[in-house]
Amino acid sequence: MNKKIRLAIFASGNGSNAEAIMKYFSQHSQIEVVLLLSNNADAFALERARRFTIPTFVFNKAQFRESDEVIRRLNESHVTHLVLAGFLWLLPPNLIEAFPDKIVNIHPSLLPKFGGKGMYGIKVHQAVKAAGETKTGITIHEVNEKYDDGKILLQASCEVLPSDTPESIAAKVNALEYEYFPKTIERWALSSSTPS
Ligand code: GRF
Repeated sequence: MNKKIRLAIFASGNGSNAEAIMKYFSQHSQIEVVLLLSNNADAFALERARRFTIPTFVFNKAQFRESDEVIRRLNESHVTHLVLAGFLWLLPPNLIEAFPDKIVNIHPSLLPKFGGKGMYGIKVHQAVKAAGETKTGITIHEVNEKYDDGKILLQASCEVLPSDTPESIAAKVNALEYEYFPKTIERWALSSSTPS
């Protein structure tokens, strides 16, 4: 019999992706969300987790970058996989080493386009519009020590019309995120978990 996969979600802000994930796995037989972590005590993602009665943990930069406190908290909840859903800080090496090949991120563009440091939220969609792109989308990928790098698990695209604004592009991209992120996490986590 396989042990349940235990996900921790990292989110810095609104947390609409975190919510889609918590909802998707709320009745799942093999996967559960056991913790939501944030670097931002005001993140609405924390409130969303509370509504799902999922424990939360807020940390500051020193705890994250210069200690093992976050890893200790993850181990305390027996977390097996990490999901970055709108999380804005680069992961420190100790965290990546503690969860090798067990960290996934979503980026709101078709990487390698419009990725890298400073490319997040509406800035990505503004850049897509300014570049005159005719399509954009999402990239779900494993995480390593660089921003928006790592093995690509899935890309999905949508059209960008001349009449689109950065906000309307964001709405299309969000819809793709909610549709594909939970089920891609499911497939990835189930294929990378070791039976016990
Ligand atoms: C999403 O577009 C995600 O792809 C990006 O940041 C946004 C976060 O939105 N990394 P939310 O916090 O999930 O609502």
